[in-house]
Amino acid sequence: MQAWVIGNWKQNPATISDVNTLIEALLAAVGDDKADNDKDSAFDRSNGCQLMVAPSCIHLAAVSERLKDMPILTAAQDISAHSDSIGAYTGDCSAQQVADAGASWTVLGHSERRQYHQECNDLLVQKLSNALTQDLGVIFCVGETQAQYDEQQTLEVLDAQLEAIKTLLDDQAHLATSIAKHLIVAYEPVWAIGTGKVPTVEEVSATHQHIKHTLAGYAEPLSQTAVLYGGSVNADNADSFAASPVIDGALVGGASLKADSFLAIADAFGRAKKSG
Ligand code: PGA
Repeated sequence: MQAWVIGNWKQNPATISDVNTLIEALLAAVGDDKADNDKDSAFDRSNGCQLMVAPSCIHLAAVSERLKDMPILTAAQDISAHSDSIGAYTGDCSAQQVADAGASWTVLGHSERRQYHQECNDLLVQKLSNALTQDLGVIFCVGETQAQYDEQQTLEVLDAQLEAIKTLLDDQAHLATSIAKHLIVAYEPVWAIGTGKVPTVEEVSATHQHIKHTLAGYAEPLSQTAVLYGGSVNADNADSFAASPVIDGALVGGASLKADSFLAIADAFGRAKKSG
């Protein structure tokens, strides 16, 4: 399966100048010669791993413009639930605006959105629907808290969070094939995000099996959904996660803010999936 390594920049970097430095460092490594940028050579340079970055909303258009025709995709970190297009929603950014800014994907349901903005399933169904209306792919994040992990409630928590996808499918069953093409699930235990603590590869693999099984049960086309792991992935532990056949890539926070570590993670997944 195609490997994906996605950088979630969160509320970083601080300035557009720092953003440009990071982008240029990434492009220097994966190749920024447009003339030489046909699909195959781009694929070789990133070792077969599809790269994507999710800058903050304010930097999205500039980053997307610089990455146009480059082998790195761009994603928003969130979109409005209220309208896929325009409207009186102060502070929001719509799926249409995100797509118009040059992004082809959006992250949805990140645990920081769930925690700091009380995002619940009903809201996320709305966001999922708005993304698909504007042809945006969705990286849908799920994950349990430390307390839920300690109580061994991980799988039931994930099932409840994945219900948002099921609700969407129940409403739009005829769109299952299109939804499948536009969906990546990221399993991110909340207690592993930014903490340096990680679950074992065996734990992550078992959880990914469960997620894949659950999605396949919703609709057959979803059986091919890529499931990424996120939470303290770095250049040192990427190889071990990449070796699991059910871990299709990584959603990377802190380590995506340095080109070297981000590319080392991409290289680890690219190599493992090519040989696997
Ligand atoms: P981290 O963040 O890699 O810094 O743990 C991952 C994420 O929140 O997506």
